[in-house]
Amino acid sequence: MKIVAVSGSPRKESNTEFYLKTVLKELESKGAETKFISLRDKAIKGCCACYSCVEAKKCVVNDDFQEIFGELMTADGILLGSPSYHSSITPELKALLDRAGFSGRWYANEMKKSGEAYSWSGNAFSGKVVAPVTVARRAGQNFAFAQLLLWATCNDCVIPGSSYWNVGVAGKGGAVNARDDEEGITIMKQLASNMYRVINALSK
Ligand SMILES: Cc1cc2nc3c(=O)[nH]c(=O)nc-3n(C[C@H](O)[C@H](O)[C@H](O)COP(=O)(O)O)c2cc1C
Repeated sequence: MKIVAVSGSPRKESNTEFYLKTVLKELESKGAETKFISLRDKAIKGCCACYSCVEAKKCVVNDDFQEIFGELMTADGILLGSPSYHSSITPELKALLDRAGFSGRWYANEMKKSGEAYSWSGNAFSGKVVAPVTVARRAGQNFAFAQLLLWATCNDCVIPGSSYWNVGVAGKGGAVNARDDEEGITIMKQLASNMYRVINALSK
């Protein structure tokens, strides 16, 4: 079982990284192989809507996208983590997900002609177990969380739950440190447990 976590935070020693690694550590203790990817030093442009992927069956814009997309393709489970920026995920993560979701759609499908019914043959993310993790100093986690859920449910993924939404409360200006967010840590551990169970069940 391989789990890849992607953090959209541009910060070093970020809170998002802490929560994602809490989930990964728990999964490692159960025997999963894990990989953490930070988008902090990556250059990934937003989707330029060239639609070349419809024919090419891959994103034709060459930057750090290809390497990360390749890692995601090897994963049974994917954690998508982001701090809340004005209630949204960061532009770094949005750029990755727009390109991954759009180019991944044409792996096994053709774009439908007008009036044609969709004949669905799966996409690059079909059946992968995906969970969002979002963090805010005070508010906005749920909107960012919903953005990630909407991406996953549109991309044929399976979503595990936890004892609460997988969100952290941490940040500057009077908020707690991620490491002191005891409830958040408990939620992340429960998420890991559910993710593990779901991936195991799906592999039978
Ligand atoms: C541009 C920007 C926008 C932010 N918007 C919000 C927000 O909408 N709500 C909030 O509670 N915190 C907001 N924050 C604070 C971060 O979400 C918070 O510090 C978070 O813990 C940072 O996570 P990180 O350490 O993983 O980057 C914002 C911070 C920045 C830099």
